[in-house]
Amino acid sequence: MAETVTIIIDGEKYEFPVITGSEGEKAIDIRQLRAKTGYITYDPGFGNSGSCKSAITYMDGKKGVLRYRGYPIEDLAENCCFVEVCYLLLNGDLPNRSEYQRVSVMLNDHSLVHEDMQIFFQNFPRSSNPMGILSSMVNALRSFYPELMTTEEAMEITFMRLISKVRTMAAMSHRISRGHKIVYPRPDYSYCANFLNMMFDSPVRPYEIKKEFVDALNMFWVLHADHEQNCSTSTVRGVGSARANIYAALSAGIAALWGPLHGGANRAVVEMLEDIRKNGGDVKKAVERAKDKNDPFRLMGFGHSVYKTYDPRAKIMKKMCDKVLAVANTQDPLLDIAMQLEEVALNDDYFKDHNLYPNIDFYSGIVLRALGIPVEMFTVMFALGRLPGWIAHWRELMDDPEKKLFRPRQVYVGETERRVIPIDER
Ligand code: CMC
Repeated sequence: MAETVTIIIDGEKYEFPVITGSEGEKAIDIRQLRAKTGYITYDPGFGNSGSCKSAITYMDGKKGVLRYRGYPIEDLAENCCFVEVCYLLLNGDLPNRSEYQRVSVMLNDHSLVHEDMQIFFQNFPRSSNPMGILSSMVNALRSFYPELMTTEEAMEITFMRLISKVRTMAAMSHRISRGHKIVYPRPDYSYCANFLNMMFDSPVRPYEIKKEFVDALNMFWVLHADHEQNCSTSTVRGVGSARANIYAALSAGIAALWGPLHGGANRAVVEMLEDIRKNGGDVKKAVERAKDKNDPFRLMGFGHSVYKTYDPRAKIMKKMCDKVLAVANTQDPLLDIAMQLEEVALNDDYFKDHNLYPNIDFYSGIVLRALGIPVEMFTVMFALGRLPGWIAHWRELMDDPEKKLFRPRQVYVGETERRVIPIDER
């Protein structure tokens, strides 16, 4: 017999079906709650509400588990490049050699950005935030590629176009912000090597592609590729639920990611570590400030809405710091500060009681700095990694027979009905 849950309101019993996920997670299906009882649920941030059924990513926040399509993040980070993971998220399984070859060719074929788009880039003020530029430009892409995605083939072309072009556009926005000439993608470079080359190649100093840097970037993007119904992904789904086009939905997702509580945290962490360094390196003071309820300061890169233990991505990222710093042949004083800060916070009762552990952003900025990525591009790097996840969720939503227009309810707490008093009598 199908499992149900009984809810008693004012002595009246109501039965609701229970949905069980493939990992045993249970959800009360309350779709008929308002119709049957007149009640709604109250759940700001939706931390207790399932907005969809999804087969893309599984997280266990208590155990620190993250899997894409069933594969543990540790396994993927160790053994797969970003393009394989893009394929996995979009298609449900890892590509074989010929499938990999086919998408690599597509990514190469769609890597150029329409020359007319350069005019837009050129006209943003030099001081513009690259996240704002990226969000606008992804939306603008729709005007250049208005084709409808009515076939599987057209859908795949759009996805590959996005994954390839958004990377090119991100590098372009960096070059233009520096007043440097744009570097075009090259057919002989891999996805990640191409990005680094487009960012850093110069006529006076040709960029030397280091395999270790390419590996690090692959791993960085694999770690960011999806994270189930987070703020930006829910935004993409929300905009998609109105049947807005995919470019508009992704543009909105980028805007959501920009926020410092979400993707913007990687930049905020480095800025926080810099501040601590400039102020003499007193990590204990930072921890005390983070605990002070009268101070809005939070320890950036700590805490997570779902993980109540060490973020599994942060563990991998931390190991990566040492590797890339060794190859870059440099020492980053921020790494020492980050490690001291982590140690003090993890041994602090407030942080223990609140289950606050480092998240992915705590160490990612140090990896990016070692790769030479400027701080204003950090959140763009997150966005490039999250792109296949957003696209996979948009696709899943479109294919979902149970999809509905996002339209949460509210508990109204404003004025009750009143009459307008003429302006001169107020
Ligand atoms: N420093 C100090 N206190 C914190 C922190 C922090 N980083 N994070 C949470 N808390 C406290 C918070 O003050 C509250 O305390 P109390 O219950 O005593 O009032 C309690 O922990 C719960 O906080 P919350 O904001 O209700 O918890 P949440 O799970 O909704 O917040 C979070 C998640 C990520 C917004 C939060 O931990 C935070 O602001 N962290 C810093 C920003 C950050 O690193 N964001 C990146 C997240 S990972 C990347 C991504 O997926 O976007």
